[in-house]
Amino acid sequence: MYSIAIDGPSGAGKSTIAKAVAKKIGFLYVDTGAIYRTVGLFAKKNSIDPNDEKTLAENFSKIDIQLKWVDGTQHVFLSDEDVSEDIRTPQMSMYASAVSALPKVRQFLLEMQRDFARKNNVIMDGRDIGTVVLPDADVKIFMFASPESRAMRRYKELLEKGKQVTYEQVLNDMVLRDKNDSERQTAPCKPAEDAVMLDNSLLSVEQNVDKVVEIINEKIHGLL
Ligand code: DC
Repeated sequence: MYSIAIDGPSGAGKSTIAKAVAKKIGFLYVDTGAIYRTVGLFAKKNSIDPNDEKTLAENFSKIDIQLKWVDGTQHVFLSDEDVSEDIRTPQMSMYASAVSALPKVRQFLLEMQRDFARKNNVIMDGRDIGTVVLPDADVKIFMFASPESRAMRRYKELLEKGKQVTYEQVLNDMVLRDKNDSERQTAPCKPAEDAVMLDNSLLSVEQNVDKVVEIINEKIHGLL
């Protein structure tokens, strides 16, 4: 099986690009952020502080997360309830960032992520895919852009979904999340040594997709 790891900070366009590339090359797209968001949602539903590692760990046996794909789109289920939309709020972004800093949570979710890559050709996005989850991935890309352009993209996305937010709020949350995600002790968001660095601040979605396909072609000869 081939695996492609796409890492980078929030709002760098990883999911949009990875989803489009997966469709183009016939790989399974796995959005690992959704799994952390679902643990965050579990914490909220059960009134558990998302920073409380001990209580969360005591509840791991009750956290039943499943990913399913409908027409190539990933849906995430928490105890059989489709929570794919519920996890996309700014509050759940902050919850996910908090629970994802906890080593026990990362350990709890590690095998589940690796299992997808054992059974499928995957393009997986997250923060530590190339460094921790799939250190032997065939292709590793670290996607990034300036905080302002990432915040603007995320702001427009939220507006389109009818969410009431201001650009400043989104930018502030993003800067805070960047700090949490890159400065934490366990599996911080950083490029793998052998990752291709891709600054997409000035790229359109189409250009970005083409660039990623080009990188994959260079790394896996004869795939496409
Ligand atoms: O990609 P996202 O914004 O949906 O991710 C939500 C949070 O989950 C993000 O703040 C960092 C965390 N995360 C992580 O620590 N490791 C991953 N592989 C994916 C996400």
